[in-house]
Amino acid sequence: MNKEAVTVIGSINYDFFLKQQRLPVIGETFSADSVTFGHGGKGANQAVQCAKLGLETYLVGKVGNDNFGSEMLESMARYGLNVDYVTLANTNTGLGIVNTLADGRVSATIAKGANYSMTCEDIDKAESLFEKSKLIILQLEIPKEVVEYAIQTAKKHDCTIILNAAPASPVDEKYLRMVDYFVVNETEASYYARENVTTIEEAEQVCEQLFEYANRLLIITLGEKGSLLYDGQKKYFFPSKKVNAIETTGAGDSYIGALAYTIIHEMSYNEMGDFASLVSSKTVTKIGAQEAMPTLQDL
Ligand SMILES: Nc1ncnc2c1ncn2[C@@H]1O[C@H](COP(=O)(O)OP(=O)(O)O)[C@@H](O)[C@H]1O
Ligand SMILES: [Mg+2]
Repeated sequence: MNKEAVTVIGSINYDFFLKQQRLPVIGETFSADSVTFGHGGKGANQAVQCAKLGLETYLVGKVGNDNFGSEMLESMARYGLNVDYVTLANTNTGLGIVNTLADGRVSATIAKGANYSMTCEDIDKAESLFEKSKLIILQLEIPKEVVEYAIQTAKKHDCTIILNAAPASPVDEKYLRMVDYFVVNETEASYYARENVTTIEEAEQVCEQLFEYANRLLIITLGEKGSLLYDGQKKYFFPSKKVNAIETTGAGDSYIGALAYTIIHEMSYNEMGDFASLVSSKTVTKIGAQEAMPTLQDL
C-alpha cells in the first residue's frame, strides 16, 4: 500500500497570554493589562501545520469535556485536520497561562490535564492510522511511556518517525535509537548533548553526538539564526529568512509541519531546509501559533 497520511500523536493546549507589569506576590490579587487566547500544544500545532499544507493528517490526543476542548476541536477540524481520534478525558483540557512582563520576561504555569491522561490503549485504538500513515510525529508533552509505545508501534508498521524531543526530558535510549528524524531546538540540544548549544558552531560540534538518536536526519533549530541538518555525513545549514518577526510561538511546530510535507513529497535535504525555513518564517510574522501558520496558498 502506498502510504501518504501523517499521524501526529501529542498534546492539545488552550493558552492564556497575560501581559502584566509584574507577578503578584503571595496573597495579592494583581490586574493584568491585557489577555489574549491561543490554541496550542505542540501536537495540535504540528498537526495543524501539516493540514494547512494540504497533507492528509490525523491527530491522536485528548481534551477535557469542557468548552476549551470543544472550541479547539472545531477550530482544528476547520483547518482540515482529522480529529476523530481525539478523545474526551475525565479531567480538564490542558491549559497554559503565560505571563509576559513589561520587560519581556516570561513565566508560565500549565495544568497538564487531559494530555497526561493519555494511555497506551489510546495508541492501540489508533492502530488503523499507523497502517495508513507514512509518517508518525511525536513530541514529549504526553506521558513518556505513551511516546515510547507509539515509537514501538510505528516501527511495527514500518512508519517513518519524527521525534521532536520537546520539552527536553528523559526518554529511554532504546526508543530514541528507533527514531528516523530527531528534531530539537537550542535548549533541547543542550539538554541531550549535555553541553551548551546556542551558536551555529556549537550546534555543529554536537551533531555527531546527537546523530546517534537519528537513523536518517538530525535537525537542530536555532531560532532566528536558522537550522542545521546532519545526515551522518554532511551538514546543511539554512539561515532563517529575514522577516519582521512579531511573535515566535509555534515557530518550531511550524518547522516540523513543513518538514513532514517535504518527507511525504520525497524532497531533497536542500529543499527540505529551504521549505521549512520559509514556512516557519511566515509563522513568526503573525500573532498566535495555529492561526499564524501559512497554507500552501499563503506561500
Ligand atoms: N525570528 C525569526 N525569523 C525568521 N525565522 C525564524 C525566526 N524564529 C524562528 N524562525 C524559524 O523557525 C525555526 C524554528 O524556530 P526555533 O525557535 O528554533 O524553534 P522552537 O519554537 O522550537 O524554539 C527556525 O529554525 C527558523 O527557521
Ligand atoms: Mg526557539
